[in-house]
Amino acid sequence: MEISAAEYARFKDILERQSGILLGENKQYLVASRLSALISEREMSSLSQLLDATNRAGGASLLKLVVDRMTTNETLWFRDRYPFEYLKSTIVPEIRRKNPNFRIWCAACSTGQEPYSIAMQLEEIATLNNADIIATDLSERVLAKAKEGFYQQIELNRGMPQERLKRFFAQASNGEWQINQRLRSKIRFQSLNLLNFPYTLGKFDVIFCRNVLIYFSNENKTKVINGLIDNLKPGGYLFLGASEALTRDSKPLKMVRCNPGLVYQKE
Ligand SMILES: C[S@@+](CC[C@H](N)C(=O)[O-])C[C@H]1O[C@@H](n2cnc3c(N)ncnc32)[C@H](O)[C@@H]1O
Repeated sequence: MEISAAEYARFKDILERQSGILLGENKQYLVASRLSALISEREMSSLSQLLDATNRAGGASLLKLVVDRMTTNETLWFRDRYPFEYLKSTIVPEIRRKNPNFRIWCAACSTGQEPYSIAMQLEEIATLNNADIIATDLSERVLAKAKEGFYQQIELNRGMPQERLKRFFAQASNGEWQINQRLRSKIRFQSLNLLNFPYTLGKFDVIFCRNVLIYFSNENKTKVINGLIDNLKPGGYLFLGASEALTRDSKPLKMVRCNPGLVYQKE
C-alpha cells in the first residue's frame, strides 16, 4: 500500500491527538504494515479512505480500532526485574507499616504480563489480599487478552520461571497456559487513555507506567507524568521504564535508587 506524504502527515496528526503516539518521519512502512489488513477487510484501497470513514456516522469505533492497531504492545514477565523485586522487598513492607491495605495502578498494562507479575510477587509475600490492583490500557484488544489470561509457551519463555509457571498457571487442552482464577480475579482491567485527564481512579501507593511514554512527545510526556503524580498518595512511588525519566517540566519527585534501577517517590 502506497502512502503519500500528505496522507502520512494527516494520519500522524490524528494518531497523536487520539493516543499521544508520535510517529517519526518516514514511518510509512509501519503504518502500512499495521493497517493494510484493516483497509482490505473494509474493502478500501487507501489510508485516506480509511481516515475519511472515521469521520462519517459511526466512525468513532473505527477510529478506536485504527488507533488500537497502531499500538506497540511489546511486553514480558518481570520486565527489568528490579521494579518487582524492589516492590516486594522494600515498598510493600514500608507501606504496610502505616496501613495494611494498599493500591497499585499499572497504567499501559498491555497483555497483562506486568500486572500479573506484580500480583505474583504480592502472593509470594502473602499480601495479595491486601492489594487493590487496577490495570489499564488504551487498546481493547490487549485488555481482552489480559483478562482471559491465556498465554502461549513462547510468551512464557520471555521471563516466566518454571516454579511460578507451576504455581500460578494451568495448562489448557490446546497447550496454552492460563493464569489461575485467583490472580485473574484480583486485577481490575479497564480501558483508559492516558491523554484523558484528569484520571478518576483515585489515589495510589504505587503506579507503574512503563515503556509507553517513549512513544510520546515531551509535552505529552510531561502532562501524563504530572497527571500520574496527582494520583499518587504522599510517599507513593512511580516506576517508569528503565530507559525513561521525568521531564524538565514535570513536578518534582524524589529519586530513590533500587540498585539496579530507580523509582520516583512523592514527598
Ligand atoms: C510497549 S507496551 C508496554 C507494556 C508494559 N507496561 C511493559 O513495560 O512491558 C505499551 C502499551 O501502551 C499502550 N498505550 C499506548 N498509548 C496509550 C495511551 N494513550 N493510553 C494508554 N495506553 C496506551 C499500548 O496499547 C501498549 O499496550
